[in-house]
Amino acid sequence: MNNRDVRATWDYHNGTKHSYESIRANRHYLDWDNQPIPFKIYSTLSPIRLPEHLSSAGMTALDALSVSEIREKSAIVPSLQTLAEILYLSAGITKRRTYPGGEILFRAAACTGALYHIDLYLVCGTLPGLAAGVYHFGPQDFVLRQLRAGDWRSVVGRATGNEPAIAHAPVIIAFASTYWRNAWKYQSRAYRHCYWDSGTIMANLLAASAARDVPARIVLGFVDNTVSKLLGLDPAREGATSLVALGNIAPEATPELSPIEPLVLETALLSKSEVEYPAMRAMHQASSLESENEVIAWRKASATAPGVEYVGPTSEPHLIALRPLSAQEVPSDTLESVVQRRGSTRKFSRESISFHALSTMLDRATRGILSDVSSPNERPANDLYLIVNAVDDLAAGAYVFRSDRRALELLKEGDFRREAGYLGLGQEIPADCSVNVFFLADLNPVLQRFGNRGYRVAQLEASVMGGKLYLAAYALGLGASGLTFFDDDVTDFFSPDAAGKSVMFLIALGKSVKQSRDRVGS
Ligand SMILES: Cc1cc2nc3c(=O)[nH]c(=O)nc-3n(C[C@H](O)[C@H](O)[C@H](O)COP(=O)(O)O)c2cc1C
Repeated sequence: MNNRDVRATWDYHNGTKHSYESIRANRHYLDWDNQPIPFKIYSTLSPIRLPEHLSSAGMTALDALSVSEIREKSAIVPSLQTLAEILYLSAGITKRRTYPGGEILFRAAACTGALYHIDLYLVCGTLPGLAAGVYHFGPQDFVLRQLRAGDWRSVVGRATGNEPAIAHAPVIIAFASTYWRNAWKYQSRAYRHCYWDSGTIMANLLAASAARDVPARIVLGFVDNTVSKLLGLDPAREGATSLVALGNIAPEATPELSPIEPLVLETALLSKSEVEYPAMRAMHQASSLESENEVIAWRKASATAPGVEYVGPTSEPHLIALRPLSAQEVPSDTLESVVQRRGSTRKFSRESISFHALSTMLDRATRGILSDVSSPNERPANDLYLIVNAVDDLAAGAYVFRSDRRALELLKEGDFRREAGYLGLGQEIPADCSVNVFFLADLNPVLQRFGNRGYRVAQLEASVMGGKLYLAAYALGLGASGLTFFDDDVTDFFSPDAAGKSVMFLIALGKSVKQSRDRVGS
């Protein structure tokens, strides 16, 4: 399959849309006896304990999540302590809940179905406290396990077409999904979740790195086969979604370690049996890059992005300028305390939130993402569409966020709680929350620019912004929950403005019943 033959994306995307009819016709049921474990457990590798006393970097969550440029030009090599903090705040276990059938270990970032199919791997040179190697992060016992010894960064460097951020990185973090761990519940739609759930983790990782002044840049252009081999992934069942170049050093000439011998490492069985969903593998293959030259050409083609000029608050009468809280007014809760209390709100109170709060969340979450194919000065692939149920000083209705104007535009006024509930798969959350934020991308220009891999770019961009909204909501003492949706009905609801666009992500924001009860009791 060729990355440029974008029929593959349309086949996958259209084939995994939810509609009222498709949900009713689906005979899939959850086979609890065959539920996969939410961890990748290497049974034979010795654990390398990560430091357990983690400290706060002291930066407020709202500041940390909105950093979108690399300020530090000097050499920065994260220590094992810093890495442990970043890993914990991104993918660590933050809460344990027992229920009649067992225990769920909740993590720092939200994940569809709490199935936690995304694992983090490290490829590093020698770091203070850690030998050069390829490692897997095990959240269940908070350890690293070494998969390969030695400095393999040059292999990743070549696989990314010598992406400068990778050449300067003392550590590269790779994200990969084990499909079955999510597809058990969500079937083929789980390929979208590979990016949704990478994105929420990524939002935390970017914020945790920013709070520690560690430069972090997402890299989406890489030879999939090489990265997969290096990490020892099973290409039939697993796929790397993204890389992050972490830290900053002068590029080093590292020894040639190839060829990459296959890793033969035992991992614990996930469940009694596994079901393969060929559409996931097909989409991953169709959006794969096959050679260093293809990566270089891909990145070059993507450099022709339309720029965006931020014109700031505007006096155009049909636009409602955001009114974010000033630096003095934003809550001073640190990123660490916000990640610790973040969850997904199970029941919203139907109360309104202030327009200042909504503005602050939108403003902070949309200041741009640094990656090999995007910069904060570029037009994002996604537009944010809102159903406002209850926001003080803002009429209930459907809006689009004009990101270059930092303003909302009213598309239609009205009470759309019932419609919001329906669009969010008939759940109560989107009907009860204060605001639903839908991320929609016009996939045609995105696929023209990036080929099938544009689907990864658009999904990840939306979910990183969604993950930032999660953090921003909890930083403001509010609640949030990611949601799934009836694809075409959402586009129809926001049309004609949204005509032709595809829904990438949805998040509900508002006050949780629990938070309101706590306030009354306090
Ligand atoms: C992209 C995304 C979509 C989600 N969709 C739903 C949903 O449709 N309904 C729901 O109740 N929860 C949904 N969730 C919330 C997850 O169930 C929740 O993140 C998971 O149980 C882990 O719990 P926590 O977020 O409280 O840590 C979604 C989360 C994400 C990240």
